[in-house]
Amino acid sequence: MHDSKQTSCSQYLTGPGIFAPVHEETPPHPNLPVNGYLPEGLNGEFLMVGPNPKFMHVAGYHWYDGDGMVHGLRIKDGKPLLLDVSFGSGTCNTSLTYHHGKLLALGEMDKPYVLRILEDGDLQTVGMFDYDKQLEHSFTAHPKIDSFTGEMFTFGYALTPPYCTYRVISKDGYMLNPVPITLSEPTMMHDFAITENFTIFMDLPLNFRPTNLVTREKILAFDAIKKARFGVLPRYSTSEIHMRWFELPNCFIFHNANAWEDGDEVVLITCRLEITDSMSIVNWIANPFDFTSELYEMRFNMKNGLASQKKLSLPSVDFPRVNNNYIGRRQRFVYATIVGKRTWIIKFDLHAEPLLGRKKFEVGGNIKEHRLIQLQLLNYPKEFPSDSILSSRQRSNSKLKQSFEQPNAPDADKYQS
Ligand SMILES: [Fe+2]
Repeated sequence: MHDSKQTSCSQYLTGPGIFAPVHEETPPHPNLPVNGYLPEGLNGEFLMVGPNPKFMHVAGYHWYDGDGMVHGLRIKDGKPLLLDVSFGSGTCNTSLTYHHGKLLALGEMDKPYVLRILEDGDLQTVGMFDYDKQLEHSFTAHPKIDSFTGEMFTFGYALTPPYCTYRVISKDGYMLNPVPITLSEPTMMHDFAITENFTIFMDLPLNFRPTNLVTREKILAFDAIKKARFGVLPRYSTSEIHMRWFELPNCFIFHNANAWEDGDEVVLITCRLEITDSMSIVNWIANPFDFTSELYEMRFNMKNGLASQKKLSLPSVDFPRVNNNYIGRRQRFVYATIVGKRTWIIKFDLHAEPLLGRKKFEVGGNIKEHRLIQLQLLNYPKEFPSDSILSSRQRSNSKLKQSFEQPNAPDADKYQS
């Protein structure tokens, strides 16, 4: 994708800043200093993957381009260990997930890559994973694991038909047959959502126009006329014939927080971007700090076919997370980042009404808490969040996790922060 606006992003290749390439791979580093204390029983590996261009780019460059680089921190028995920095996971530079005993690096234009953490903290890339040749399309960076069933749900989008393909992976790691989803044109679909019984797809008005490459126009085009479409499919459907589509006002969405069922309605908690033209997206790619997304509740009534939406926050909120044990089920708290000149973590209480008349984020209404992320300690000129997750190989293996979403737990407040 060669474009003058995009090429200007090559500033990220030269730094300084968090997007500048890291050329050295480092070994595990033990005996890290601890400021404060580590919660008792917190054991696991915190891993991050992000773009790190190991090889020279051949055309335009943007800040989320580049090979996937993984680095991490192991916390075991109260001691932290800086894990190896590992190159070599292709363009799977967006997120990591752990399913059926496999740690996967993911990027939406590629297939998963299996990584391995050795006993001494060394990280290794095992290789591309295609589920015994069952996977013939790309794999979203945001699959959903239902912790109640152990299944993983995923999809991939493509520039040629079928433009979207839905897959279910059993708890035993077996990938079921593809379910092609009909879209009118190739569509950027960064995320989706599941509930106990449904899967929600987003057909939003940001489309790929591959032929634009010939005329050196932008490959991504925003259709200001098209509605935002949400498809709700029974999640074990083997075809799309039972899909129900709902329409809401034009928008774009990168990340959903969660979804669940409430009577006849399917509820989606999401970060909605109000964009008006293609340039908004081009500008956003050029300047990732220029975010305007807001937390929204969307409802899709399976009985009468109507959709509605309600704003839950001021701008600019994204990278929402909920307790992974509640993905697809009703939950109360959403953790997200406020993206701007300074980055904050914010905690929303979905049981409380939002106070939208304010000019800035403050505790009150549905805002339970917010805290500044002190990334400047790492000499970053700007702060920026990512799709990082704390990866645990066991469900609810700590007191912290067990208390996370239980408002009536006696020590819940202690651990919810
Ligand atoms: Fe993402």
